[in-house]
Amino acid sequence: MPYAEVDDVRLHIRQQGTGRVALFIHGFPLDSSMWIEQLSALSEVRRCIAVDLRGFGRSSPVDGTPLTMERHAADLAGVLDLVSEEKADIVGLSMGGYVALAFAELYSDRVRSLALLDTRSGGDTEEGKAGRDATAERLLEEGRAAIAEGMQAALLAPGASLTARARLRSMIEGCPYETIVAALGGMRDRPDRTEVLSSVSVPAAVLVGEHDAVTPPADAEQMAEALGDASLSVIPGAGHLTPIENPAAVNEALLSLFAR
Ligand code: MLT
Repeated sequence: MPYAEVDDVRLHIRQQGTGRVALFIHGFPLDSSMWIEQLSALSEVRRCIAVDLRGFGRSSPVDGTPLTMERHAADLAGVLDLVSEEKADIVGLSMGGYVALAFAELYSDRVRSLALLDTRSGGDTEEGKAGRDATAERLLEEGRAAIAEGMQAALLAPGASLTARARLRSMIEGCPYETIVAALGGMRDRPDRTEVLSSVSVPAAVLVGEHDAVTPPADAEQMAEALGDASLSVIPGAGHLTPIENPAAVNEALLSLFAR
């Protein structure tokens, strides 16, 4: 099933493995290909499903209207309804973590475990919101390459491999302008979901790159404390894109979560 028809859209899906479902939610402005190492390693124990969120990757296009975290969560619930009646392990990175928290709030009965990677539970500050609008303006004036340049420095650890840099660059430069504008608006407008953390009663894991400058280890520690039953893994040598920068350490942490 490379595509799922959910509501008004067609969502592209990467799938590997059988059995219990683990759902992988990508960050901004990325796509499901960021999870290829996880799909390959974790398909030993799970039916791994990585979705291109609407507007991203090979999923249906969107216009520039803000894409809310709730919209994405509803799409993912629709995908799960198509593949299994059981609960799923929910894994989200950064913007995917914002979506995972919305999912945990709105569809808690579908969550078997929750993994939050390089993300935060709070909303944007006023400064952060203004930054989203400035990024959208810059994108439209200077193009994707200009924002990719800045993001490469912000998202990857110093000394990141050529492969990691190439993968990031391809994803950013392949992302439609409308999607980037819509996603920036959706992240700008997202609510603070810190209180959702204390309502999570399933096993959880918080992962963060030791050099993550976007959502630093201090934020991850606070989230792990606020979650009832969470492990915290600081991923060596990685910045904000831990699954790409140090897949082996991320896979190990997720395997331990799935075994709990
Ligand atoms: C991401 O990696 O998804 C973004 O850094 C999230 C954000 O901009 O808040």
